[in-house]
Amino acid sequence: MIVAKEHNIKKDEFEGKVVLVTGANRGFGLAITMDLARAGATVIMLGRDLGSLEHAYDAVVDSGLKEPILYPLDLEGATPENYQELQDNLLNEFGKLDGLVHNASILGTQMPIEQYDIKLWYSTIQINLNAPFMLTQFLIPALSKSDDARIIFLSSTVGRKARAYWGAYSVSKFGIEGFAKTLSEELEKTQISVNTVNPGKLRTEMRRTAYPAEDSSTVPLPEEKSQAIVHLLSSSSPKINGEQLTISD
Ligand SMILES: NC(=O)c1ccc[n+]([C@@H]2O[C@H](COP(=O)([O-])OP(=O)(O)OC[C@H]3O[C@@H](n4cnc5c(N)ncnc54)[C@H](OP(=O)(O)O)[C@@H]3O)[C@@H](O)[C@H]2O)c1
Repeated sequence: MIVAKEHNIKKDEFEGKVVLVTGANRGFGLAITMDLARAGATVIMLGRDLGSLEHAYDAVVDSGLKEPILYPLDLEGATPENYQELQDNLLNEFGKLDGLVHNASILGTQMPIEQYDIKLWYSTIQINLNAPFMLTQFLIPALSKSDDARIIFLSSTVGRKARAYWGAYSVSKFGIEGFAKTLSEELEKTQISVNTVNPGKLRTEMRRTAYPAEDSSTVPLPEEKSQAIVHLLSSSSPKINGEQLTISD
């Protein structure tokens, strides 16, 4: 299903809503954070590095948007105890969670499987697949307290159709597609919906690393597509569940 990239999001559409975004310090995660804060959401910005998160916090606040909450956590090393602490903090502070955007990912390396670096394979699967599983598991209790909770997993074209040399990244995104589908079936009768979104091309560090020879001026900025994610998180958009969505270019 295709989702239009542009939407009219009202200024107070997310008033009273709490949304957690992973990898919120830069790239697509920061663009989503800015749009959510613009719509009045309290955004919990999860990122691995406090300095980088603080820099992003300044960008949000200096733009006159709703003050976000910073949550430094390295998704590669995070333990069940860390996720439990996050759940406790979230429930104590807000009592609920209305949206969860699994955006953080690493590219790993582009290499034949025969030569793929084993340590990098483990890191990529840990950050891109195992961490979203644990984060989701520990945040379901908070999502259950919302009357309309929406989970979005950022996927990729190579998570839906295999392409040679995309290795652990591609496998992690295929895994995310399967995980989201399973979860959407389990939560079908609840008020929590689960979908995957392929954002298509985005002019970010990940894209530059994957396509170093590309003319980046032809690639859409993350800010051009982030409204689509905010629209999907909004209670004013129709609730869908278990779908593979793609943002139009
Ligand atoms: N760019 C594209 O063209 C494209 C296309 C299809 C799908 N996507 C998907 O869209 C999403 C956003 O991509 P992007 O282009 O914005 O990527 P990006 O520019 O590389 O940013 C990745 C984000 O993930 C964070 N991250 C990485 N490892 C982490 C860890 N261990 N713990 C916590 N955070 C970590 C990064 O934080 P640091 O700053 O600390 O590294 C950064 O905030 C990803 O899921 C990607 O797979 C992107």
